[in-house]
Amino acid sequence: MKHLLSRVVCQNSDEKQKALVELQNVCSQCRACDLCKTRACTVFSDGRADAPIMLIGDAPGPDEDAAGKPFVGRAGQLLNTFLTESGIDREKDVYICNTIKCKTPQNRIPTNEEKRACQVYLFGQIAIVKPKIILLCGTTALQSFVDDDIKITEVRGKWLNIFDDIEVMAISHPSYLLRQHSQEPNTPRWFMKKDLEKVKAELDTLVT
Ligand code: URA
Repeated sequence: MKHLLSRVVCQNSDEKQKALVELQNVCSQCRACDLCKTRACTVFSDGRADAPIMLIGDAPGPDEDAAGKPFVGRAGQLLNTFLTESGIDREKDVYICNTIKCKTPQNRIPTNEEKRACQVYLFGQIAIVKPKIILLCGTTALQSFVDDDIKITEVRGKWLNIFDDIEVMAISHPSYLLRQHSQEPNTPRWFMKKDLEKVKAELDTLVT
């Protein structure tokens, strides 16, 4: 799938937006796996087609399934706080989507089959948006790009060598951080802040 990325060429943000709408329309009719039977709607994306950062979460939850937008629930609100505190503007800088576009029953982890069924949309989004930075937010997102046995705690905050021309970093999922309250050094929330500061510093060197 990765080799397809260079084949999609959108010259400007209007072309990107148009291509994304076409892909979203196809996605909204998708019946490639059984999740189509239990979703209210597909949750495709939020944010600008020409954003420099693409944040990829795991899967929509019930709030996102109802709203049709990713990261609108409590986890999304915490994510917004972290982004804002690190100087990253969600509306201007970030295109947000998920690894899979349909909610899973009882919020369970998506199966490999479900991830595979959705790959065409995720890789389509990457190919169209062509972000400068990808943030893999959570285990499902991370393990869609690296081996299944790599844990987020081992690699979060490091630049990963996945694409030639896109910087990739794994970050903790805000749902996990909702259960971690300490702000002390070397705790999960502290690491999230440091990781996003690193992303912001990189963003500033890439976008003039
Ligand atoms: N968790 C995710 O990974 N994505 C969402 O959109 C919401 C919660």
